[in-house]
Amino acid sequence: MSDIPTIALVGVGGFGRQHLINIERLASQGRVRLAALVTGSGVAPLRGQVDPAVTTMAEAVPVYPTLDDYLAAGDPATVVVISTPIHTHTDLATKALRAGAHVLLEKPPTPGMADFTFLEEVVAQTGRIVQVGFQSFGSHALPRLAGLLASGALGELSGVGAVGTWSRAASYFTRSGWAGKREIDGIPVVDGVVTNPLAHAVATALEVAGATRSGDVAEVVLDQYRANPIDCDDTSAVLVRTAAGIRVSLGLALTAPRQSPPRVIAYGTRGTATLHYVSDALEVRIGGRTTTEQFGRTNLTENLLDHLADPSIGLLCPLAATGAFTTVLEAVHTAPDPRPVAADQVSWTRRDGDTWAVVERVEEYCERVAAEGRTFADLGAPWVTR
Ligand SMILES: NC(=O)c1ccc[n+]([C@@H]2O[C@H](COP(=O)([O-])OP(=O)(O)OC[C@H]3O[C@@H](n4cnc5c(N)ncnc54)[C@H](O)[C@@H]3O)[C@@H](O)[C@H]2O)c1
Repeated sequence: MSDIPTIALVGVGGFGRQHLINIERLASQGRVRLAALVTGSGVAPLRGQVDPAVTTMAEAVPVYPTLDDYLAAGDPATVVVISTPIHTHTDLATKALRAGAHVLLEKPPTPGMADFTFLEEVVAQTGRIVQVGFQSFGSHALPRLAGLLASGALGELSGVGAVGTWSRAASYFTRSGWAGKREIDGIPVVDGVVTNPLAHAVATALEVAGATRSGDVAEVVLDQYRANPIDCDDTSAVLVRTAAGIRVSLGLALTAPRQSPPRVIAYGTRGTATLHYVSDALEVRIGGRTTTEQFGRTNLTENLLDHLADPSIGLLCPLAATGAFTTVLEAVHTAPDPRPVAADQVSWTRRDGDTWAVVERVEEYCERVAAEGRTFADLGAPWVTR
């Protein structure tokens, strides 16, 4: 018909809506054509799942219940965007790649290292591309921060921290059958704070520390708790040592009294740089003087399309660049169950018809994990149970 690349979106509910809005934006610029939607079997058709703003475009394309049905129709899209539950990623991405499509795969790419290695093999066999949806990897603040570190402006990098203190209601964990699960019927899901909602903090902190490939991580120490009635962690300290000897310390929680913007901090011997990876602001503090710079970001689907049109344009988050993150995920996947937060350290607040777990002083301890490179247990956090 035309040589405009085509896109099929798999998983249109939940975060898939954001992909649909983005695809509409790219379509309005003549960059892509939406070829198909795949909703998942047993899912009611489109209406109600798709934003009214993009319903017209979405309703003009064929809708399939499963990726198999779509691929059986022949002639797959140039790019298949996969925005489905974590435990479906490996299977769906493999099918799309083997059918000849490139893939934009939501994070976390796979629920374990075995699946990750398998998917890397499929990428190599098919010669197709998987770009992973860690959108902070498109932030223009990252090259600026890398430049500051390389120039020595911050002195020597002594460590990287991340603080993510979010607040999630009980309904967040009941919105889907897979939410908060470690596995379903023996299949890994690994949907805890470290590996899903604040996975961006983990992947971005590792990237700032120069660790992207699986071999870039030497050691992972976990200290994980849960206040909500879920299988996975919602309050975690993670300490990573990279192969180059950099310490990465993460204090992450969904149990804070309020939602704060998450941040990644590069600690240098002369100064610090704090990356607000949601808003792309970079705060640099050297010798008591703080400057803040605001950056933009490149959209990852757009970057994949640009790379396909001109391979000299580098991919911002290829599958291989999420190997270090997946090494942390694998440690979480194989770790013992998270321990319950001591009951007298959790308060339950009610607002907006929902219930919210708040762990005592969790913001303070997440800050300290990042700054001091110690776990909650080492810091003597009041909720630590043995
Ligand atoms: N990059 C980000 O900032 C970001 C934010 C939120 C979620 N996510 C990721 O997006 C993915 C989806 O998360 P969510 O919160 O939207 O989940 P969700 O459960 O709310 O929605 C998933 C959607 O996929 C559909 N689906 C399920 N199985 C399917 C299948 N086999 N084929 C086609 N469709 C299927 C469901 O019907 C549903 O509409 C996850 O990997 C999640 O981590 C990324």
